[in-house]
This record gives sequence, C-alpha cells and structure tokens, in this order.
Amino acid sequence: MTGSYPHTRLRRTRATAWSRAMHRENVLTPADLIWPLFVTEGEGVEEPIAALPGVSRWSVDGVVARAKEAAELGIPCLALFPNTQPDRRSENGGEALNPDNLMCRAIRAVRDALGDRIGLLTDVALDPYTSHGQDGLIDAAGYVLNDETVEVLVGQALNQAAAGADIIAPSDMMDGRIGAIRDALEDAGHANIQIMSYAAKYASSFYGPFRDAVGSRGLLKGDKKTYQMDPANSEEALREVEMDLAEGADSVMVKPGLPYLDIVRRVKETFEVPVFAYQVSGEYAMIEAAVAAGAGDRDALVLETLLAFKRAGCSGVLTYYAAHAARLLNG
Ligand code: PBG
Repeated sequence: MTGSYPHTRLRRTRATAWSRAMHRENVLTPADLIWPLFVTEGEGVEEPIAALPGVSRWSVDGVVARAKEAAELGIPCLALFPNTQPDRRSENGGEALNPDNLMCRAIRAVRDALGDRIGLLTDVALDPYTSHGQDGLIDAAGYVLNDETVEVLVGQALNQAAAGADIIAPSDMMDGRIGAIRDALEDAGHANIQIMSYAAKYASSFYGPFRDAVGSRGLLKGDKKTYQMDPANSEEALREVEMDLAEGADSVMVKPGLPYLDIVRRVKETFEVPVFAYQVSGEYAMIEAAVAAGAGDRDALVLETLLAFKRAGCSGVLTYYAAHAARLLNG
C-alpha cells in the first residue's frame, strides 16, 4: 500500500460537524424565504386546500395574523393571492381594478397592522378575476391579447401600489408589461416600488393545486402555452430576462423552481442580478405525497430543496413551506 495513498482526501473536511460547518459554501436563513398566502372573504375563516395539505386560505384577519407570525420568524416578505368570489369574476377581470377588492383590503390590513416590518409582494395577472381563468383578456377565439391586457395590468399594478404593495410581481408573461408598469409607477409617484418580474415562467404542469387555491382550475379553458414558456427552452429564458431587466425590473423570478434550477444558474451567471425562484404548488404537493408515502422525512426534504435554490444562485425562494422552514431554521 505504501505510496498509493491519496494525498488529497476530500473526506478530511467532512469528518466532523464543526469542520462541515466551517467549509459550508451556502446557507439558508429565514431571510431567504417569501411566503405565499391565499386570501379569502369573511372573518375568522380558515379554508384548508385539499390539493395542498397543510396550506389554507385565510380571511384578511388571518392573513394579518400570519404576517405577524412571519415577521417574528424573520421572513422578510409575503406574496398575496386572492380567491375572488365567483360573482366578482368576469370576462374582462375588471375586479382587478377595484380599489376595495379582496387583494387591496388584505394589503391595507397588513400594512396598517405591521407598517414596514414586512414586505408585500403582489401578483399582477388577471386569472384570479376572469371567468375563463386566463391571465389576460381574450378574443373570440380564446387567444390572450397582449397589448390590451397590458393596459389592464398597468391599472391592476397601480391599484395594488395605491393600497400599499412594496413589490409588484407580474406573473402574466405578456410582452412589454414591465416597461409599461414601470412608467406608470413613476408617473404615479411610486418611484421606490419594486418590480420583481416573473421573467422565465413556464407553461408547467406543476401549477394545478394553485389553480384550486385561487378557484380558477374549473374555469380555465385551454392552456397558457401562447404566453407562458415552453419547458423545452433555455435560450429563450435569457431573452425574457434581458427584456424585463431592460424595461426596469429590479429582480427576476424563475418558475417553477426545482425542475428549472438550470435556468436559475444560467440567468444568475449571465446577468448577475437578484434571481428568485418559486417552489410552486405542484412541487409542494409532490413533497407532501412523498412524505405520505413514507419516501422521506419532511423536514429534511424541505430544507434540502430550499438549500438547493441557494446553491443554484437564488437570492430567495417563494415557498409554501416558508413558515415551517423558518421555524426549523430558528431551532
Ligand atoms: C397566475 C399564477 C400561477 C401561479 C402563480 N401565479 C398559476 C398559473 O400561471 O396558472 C402558480 C403558483 C403555484 O403553482 O404555486 N398568474
């Protein structure tokens, strides 16, 4: 054996916990987490979402309670999504422009209760408001119209900004919406409201439980492939990101998350800007199903997936596990 020993033993630094801690390249903290919450009408209401075991829709008072909990856990930001009453949905999604819609009431309530102790990221897209479940206005053939939709999205963004949103997050994938929203925010005196663009958002099969949560699954006619990206594409994601940055996005998002970490890494290396990823509803459901089947330990699976986002280059992750993970991290 003499002379045949490896000089380099990568296992040396792994041998003890203190040494592993000392050589760890990436860390996950509660500040990396953005918590998506579903809002519903009423008071004192908690509606569990069957497709997302462990996740509920909350009435505005419940959202405020979750916001306090999040701030105490060190979670910096919430992402709000409304489950609009069926009678408030329409062909043109006009409820998105109502200053007293569920979303705006939730924004104001959290703002009133917490001031700037927590950030509020608000989704811009019409799907929680349309009777057809598409993210924009449609023509007679059901095609989602780009420029007409952008005009409505601008109004939706201004409505959220006036209510107190901190980060406008357009998830609709229309062309040109970032620039249009940026201009409108500046004109309205909201120079410091950020835009996090859902820049590389794929036409994914992982959104099913979310559509249940906002009540659009049963309504959706067709698919979203004429605006969301083809899962086969990666070059195109760079073009999407480049365009949104040129139009004034402060940060960009890749969505879904874990199956698209290659996109996160390419975007990060190419543009060196803050990149976020969304661990979407289907990913959450997949982990829950694995746990229910005895295939793994929830806490370990969750922390491993979230750390993987950091390793890939993310500044943070939108995840339904945010509060759970923050509790684990806070010990
Ligand atoms: C819609 C929107 C979707 C999600 C966030 N915003 C669904 C879709 O595009 O159909 C999905 C989030 C998730 O699955 O957790 N604008």
